[in-house]
Amino acid sequence: MRKLMVLVAFAALVTASCGVVAGAGEDVVRVYSGRHYDLEQAFRDFAKQTDISVEFLYGGDAELRERIAAEGEDTPADVFMTVDAGNLWLAGQQGLLKPMNSKELTGAVPAGLRDPQGRWFGLSMRARTLMYNPKRVDPAEFPDRDSYAALAEPKWKGRLCMRNSTNSYTQSLVASLIADYGYGRALQIVKGWVANDVEIVNSDVRIIETIDAGGCDVGITNHYYLARMLEEDPDLSVKPFWANQAGPGVHVNISGAGVLKHSDNPELARRLLEWLATGGQNSFADGNHEYPVNPDVEPEPLIADFGEFDYQPVNAKAYGSLNAKAVQLMGEAGYS
Ligand SMILES: [Fe+2]
Repeated sequence: MRKLMVLVAFAALVTASCGVVAGAGEDVVRVYSGRHYDLEQAFRDFAKQTDISVEFLYGGDAELRERIAAEGEDTPADVFMTVDAGNLWLAGQQGLLKPMNSKELTGAVPAGLRDPQGRWFGLSMRARTLMYNPKRVDPAEFPDRDSYAALAEPKWKGRLCMRNSTNSYTQSLVASLIADYGYGRALQIVKGWVANDVEIVNSDVRIIETIDAGGCDVGITNHYYLARMLEEDPDLSVKPFWANQAGPGVHVNISGAGVLKHSDNPELARRLLEWLATGGQNSFADGNHEYPVNPDVEPEPLIADFGEFDYQPVNAKAYGSLNAKAVQLMGEAGYS
């Protein structure tokens, strides 16, 4: 009965942040999603191909995770979807997710992009890497290892633009520096960026615009912002440099999902995840110019043009458990 009441509440929430994509059959899978980018197209394709309807509720990653925890066994949701591995890791730690034993998922998603215990799976990948203005920088100036750390060298003084410290992308990148180098060395790196008078910009798009305009020579952003902007203006004077190719690989994060422990329809939820990781990869990833996780699926042409790269396996535990340390480190370094 309580569950029914929550279901009614879920339906009542069908406002700006909710929606339903109806399939031909009676089955319904319900998704709480921190990912908003073009998700409805993927759900429409899924509903069309499987007859399973999808009801979805959008919110922030952390907000939805807390909501699931609060709803407990009464949650109407079957799937938790996020734009960040750290929140999936935290959901796993909180016991909110059900391990999925699916050959299709483990076959489709590389080990470095999913939970070893099968509680969550990456479904698309984004790279956070160096962006530069080719009129002002020769990419041979960037080392193929310690590429993020190298921006602390004095030669980059007055030439850097980076994202603000309250942004989760910055926090996960710094958390991965702590995991790779230890707190002390990571602190030296971030202090070096600050000593270089890094210009802090609170938008990846604005970082790319500033590099294009010659206001900065180098920055760090997610790859898909460059793709979006190149779609509008193919003459943009900004190129990506794939960081750490002779080291651990470029820093990546995922959009991913897990099935909830208290899902009423774990089989339908599993089918949605399996479809998203296989036949639905392009529907899911391409709209936001993200990379498919499934190595059998081609990325869309604009990002395929950026060239192939090695990536560092997603260290979800570091992104989740070192988040507070990363924030503390940036404060200590005077990075705002
Ligand atoms: Fe983004």
